[in-house]
Amino acid sequence: SRTMPRNRLRLVGALAAILVAAGLTAGTPAQAHDRPATLADLAQRHGRYFGSATDNPELTDTAYTSLLGGEFDMITPGNGMKWYATEPQQGVFDWTNGDQIVNLARKNHQRVRAHTLVWHSQLPDWLTGREWTADELRAVLKNHILTEVRHYRGKVYSWDVVNEAFNEDGTYRDTIWYKTLGPGYIADALRWAHQADPHAKLYLNDYNIEAVGPKSDAYYQLAQDLKARHVPLDGIGLQAHLALQYGYPTTLEDNLRRFSKLGLDTALTEVDVRMILPVTDEKLAQQADWYRDLTSACLAVRRCVGITVWDYTDKYSWIPAFFPGEGAALPWDEQLQPKPAYFAIREALGGK
Ligand code: G3I
Repeated sequence: SRTMPRNRLRLVGALAAILVAAGLTAGTPAQAHDRPATLADLAQRHGRYFGSATDNPELTDTAYTSLLGGEFDMITPGNGMKWYATEPQQGVFDWTNGDQIVNLARKNHQRVRAHTLVWHSQLPDWLTGREWTADELRAVLKNHILTEVRHYRGKVYSWDVVNEAFNEDGTYRDTIWYKTLGPGYIADALRWAHQADPHAKLYLNDYNIEAVGPKSDAYYQLAQDLKARHVPLDGIGLQAHLALQYGYPTTLEDNLRRFSKLGLDTALTEVDVRMILPVTDEKLAQQADWYRDLTSACLAVRRCVGITVWDYTDKYSWIPAFFPGEGAALPWDEQLQPKPAYFAIREALGGK
């Protein structure tokens, strides 16, 4: 029944007034208004998301998870959905790590960019430790994709279906998939993923494809070809692992736009901007400019749907372990304090 007796209404009104006066209501409109806008809030004003990667071991750090839950509206598991984690024995699936992150995201009203189904790295030993015929390997791949995508069906926004398929010169990377199955594995993978979750956005994802060049050209041609053959492809993920010493990819916006014109979404999926240590104010300022510019580039292209940083704090960045002597790549420092890059992103998103 939609109507309430008038005296009951008056009582409810009086109670509410008392609660407000006593400061007992959480999230009154006034409070909501006073809360500073998060990166997610600011991005949403442009119809975009602002996301972060995360990883299971970090989730016991409550200062960390509080910022992760508050500032972002899209989450990517940095490792938890990869093959070695999800199918450690052939046909034996383990969803523990992926589920933990999906459940946390759901609790925080965040969406999930799922990562990744077909890659040459972080594969389990049972898969890399023997020879497979094409028929055998195709069956292994199909079962992995169908099972994992079905498990997360309806729970994730998108999938990085194939990760890092090309070399720098635009030739196919000579992976177990390419060597055994030929280039057709990419279309197969997309079709199987679509079959298992018709609503998930399906992406190809790679690094060093931010600028126009041989590697991004390879994606452009592949995307064009897949579209012409009606293979289910929704987007191209540009990882954007940038480094101050190599220069800013000035053709980023043009590059995003050419994929948009093919009818594809684009996203910056693993952003970080590393530097050679030690950190200086000058490098931090340059890094801030780069974060500002890449955010503006995404906003300038209609189908660039969002930006994800590859974790948000230098405390949990992958960089120092992989590039000794480099680091400080993310918008928050190791003490979880915002850096100039953070304020530059806010500015680019139109916040203060
Ligand atoms: O799980 C083991 C743990 O048992 C062991 O004690 C520890 C000791 O080194 O290693 C742990 O595994 C590490 C794993 O991350 C989980 O933390 C691996 O050594 C480490 O190599 C691995 O690094 C990941 C990397 O992919 C592997 O290539 C990074 O965390 C992850 O952020 C990174 O993400 C990739 C994207 O998937 C694709 N694009 C590039 C990006 C950066 O490399």
